[in-house]
Amino acid sequence: MEIRGKKALVTGAASGIGRATALAMAERGARLFITDINEPGLAHTRSTIEERGGEVCLARALDITDYAAVRRLAEEIHSRFGSLDILANVAGVALFSQVEDMTHEQWERVVNVNLWGPYHTIECFVPEMVRAGKGGHIVNVSSAAGIIGLPWHLVYAGTKHALVGTSEVLRYDLRKHAIGVSVILPGAVNTGIIDTVEINADLEACSKGRELFRRHADPPEKVAELIVKAVERNRFMVITAADVKLLYFFKRMFPPVYDIVMRLMTRSLDGFLTRKSVCTRV
Ligand SMILES: NC(=O)c1ccc[n+]([C@@H]2O[C@H](COP(=O)([O-])OP(=O)(O)OC[C@H]3O[C@@H](n4cnc5c(N)ncnc54)[C@H](O)[C@@H]3O)[C@@H](O)[C@H]2O)c1
Repeated sequence: MEIRGKKALVTGAASGIGRATALAMAERGARLFITDINEPGLAHTRSTIEERGGEVCLARALDITDYAAVRRLAEEIHSRFGSLDILANVAGVALFSQVEDMTHEQWERVVNVNLWGPYHTIECFVPEMVRAGKGGHIVNVSSAAGIIGLPWHLVYAGTKHALVGTSEVLRYDLRKHAIGVSVILPGAVNTGIIDTVEINADLEACSKGRELFRRHADPPEKVAELIVKAVERNRFMVITAADVKLLYFFKRMFPPVYDIVMRLMTRSLDGFLTRKSVCTRV
């Protein structure tokens, strides 16, 4: 799908992959609608787009877990601008933990942001896209943890696997309306999430872990380019990192090899994150 002139809503646009995606779409000539819970970050994205000559039709700070707020945003966009052409669900939060260390609030927060967030926007925006009959595209940013049972990712992996399932159903259900669907499965990406991820583990191990993760992470601009290409070429599943592609290949083609790798990975992460005390968000 040609992006120029299209109306695109990007969630999580204040930081990381969402910000880079909004910038990349604006550069391709999309008319942007951006949202995030982080108001100053969102304003920064807006001013960057406008300084570069892009168009931001609307920037609205809201909590994506708040259904009424998302519904109000959809009503405003539909009445002032009509239906969207592109919906990109990027906002998300992460949590690394062993099951016995998780609080109920942690379970809820990850499910609410990572799953209810995209469900709110899909519910509020996609029926109008269908009714408009102009086609379009939906992007759901899942994760490597959406196809691989990464250790310590318990609830995060649950939400990201669910997003893959929902994307696959939407892909076939919306085909008759010429609405394409892409599910993006990034590996490690150098974004704000490295600092905000909650890790229920030893404090010192947490900061070492963040540094290690950062060192082998891709820049968010690389993922944003792959997202834009996925929209342009109607690609369904986009795995952004070579190591994740390899692991997913083993999972499908050589399950015993996958099993050995996952056991080793789990043992090494267990050893690394020693779980002496709880390290909260910074
Ligand atoms: N960075 C990685 O290594 C990585 C890997 C795989 C998948 N992802 C996924 O990519 C997506 C983007 O994350 P990122 O890495 O750019 O992180 P990020 O922290 O830089 O960006 C996430 C954005 O989501 C926003 N957000 C969080 N809670 C929200 C809420 N309740 N309402 C509205 N906005 C909210 C944050 O304010 C932030 O701007 C997430 O869905 C994440 O799970 C990231």
